[in-house]
Amino acid sequence: MTPIQPWLNGPLENRGGKLYFDGVSAEELAEAFDTPLYVTSESRIRDNYRNLHKALTRNYEKIRVYYAAKANSNLSVLKTLETEGAYLDAVSPGEVFMALTTGFTPERILFTGTSVRNDELKFLADSDITVNADSLSQLDRLLKIKVPEVLSVRVNPEIGAGHHDHCITAGENTKFGLWESDAVNAYKKAKDSGVERFGIHMHVGSGVLDVDPFVLALDKLLSVAKRVHDEAGVSFEFVDMGGGIGVPYKPEDKPVDLVAFSEKVLSLFKNRVEEYDLGEPFFCVEPGRYLVCDASILLTRVNTVKVTPFKRFVGVDAGFNTLVRPTMYGSHHHVLVASKLDSPEEETYDVAGPVCESGDLLARDRRLPNVDEGDLLAVLNAGAYGYAMSSQYNARPRAAEVMVKDGKCAVIRKRETLDDLLSGQRVAE
Ligand SMILES: Cc1ncc(COP(=O)(O)O)c(C=O)c1O
Repeated sequence: MTPIQPWLNGPLENRGGKLYFDGVSAEELAEAFDTPLYVTSESRIRDNYRNLHKALTRNYEKIRVYYAAKANSNLSVLKTLETEGAYLDAVSPGEVFMALTTGFTPERILFTGTSVRNDELKFLADSDITVNADSLSQLDRLLKIKVPEVLSVRVNPEIGAGHHDHCITAGENTKFGLWESDAVNAYKKAKDSGVERFGIHMHVGSGVLDVDPFVLALDKLLSVAKRVHDEAGVSFEFVDMGGGIGVPYKPEDKPVDLVAFSEKVLSLFKNRVEEYDLGEPFFCVEPGRYLVCDASILLTRVNTVKVTPFKRFVGVDAGFNTLVRPTMYGSHHHVLVASKLDSPEEETYDVAGPVCESGDLLARDRRLPNVDEGDLLAVLNAGAYGYAMSSQYNARPRAAEVMVKDGKCAVIRKRETLDDLLSGQRVAE
């Protein structure tokens, strides 16, 4: 068995040129469950969680890792992280509902929504979920519904970062969070209204491979915490640095060095907390992508090979309805031909889906072994924002999902059928 890429030591294995994922043959999975098929390794999610938790607790005892459910809200994924002891970051009542259904208790859930409706705030208040206020309007409306015991405020730390403009969530152009003076006023108002326990939060963006933006933004967040502490007399039970830790998608991308990351971030945190007399708050992170991205692959079957005067297209059965990231963000996902791992890369292909739009390309100008109709492709790093962002566009039922572990597999989401396309609809009289 040789690793497929030295930069990715996950559940992927090359057994005699054929792809195995956590001990299960990709070809057998595709035959048993059809394609497109998301395959998720339970062990990899656990390893990712444990590695991150361990790296952080080396430098500070009071750590909480909130899983950002938006990355992948499959119940089995949530349950895996629930049993690891993770906390949960939810951005919608639906995610709260899924988390409660999976077994997360309300104290383990933090709600960080934006443009939140009153009925949603009522649902959160009735469910005893801690809310991370994203605007003064949201805070006012929440306080009218019910004064919570605990409240957090999402602060814009004025420094954003991310793999794409759409994913930068702090700084000048973002809709998220409160700027410093509004944040101070929010805490004053909450305290005057009777809120007793507090947290403070930021999220710089998503897909950040460099530690510097986190350090700079955290420094700013802690200076806001000091101001709130001094001016509003608020003590913090937790400081949440948000999510955003990036993962390597391209062979040349370097993974984040978690030990160095933890040392840099937490030494700043500990210094500032002491300097500003902020007590001993929990230090929280909110990763989505980091925990689940490399735990899943997407299997898709080649149905067409088409050569034009300019391009060679490999037509597959997964399109941007199945995995939207390449089309939406121009993201790179590494592609393997599942039964030709030992074959030389001979041709340059665009891998195209079945959606009727020219932008429906999973990969562009990719060197691959000679691809034949019937070949199975594996699209790597599909666990974060993969199934979660999929749709029924072009009236295509969504893919199935299986979970694998040590050579065994289980269906964790049925493939949709044509009947599912009709669900909830009726023809107007
Ligand atoms: C508030 C918040 N926390 C955490 C995350 C998770 O980000 P990532 O998956 O990059 O870790 C997001 C993603 O958009 C977010 O908006």
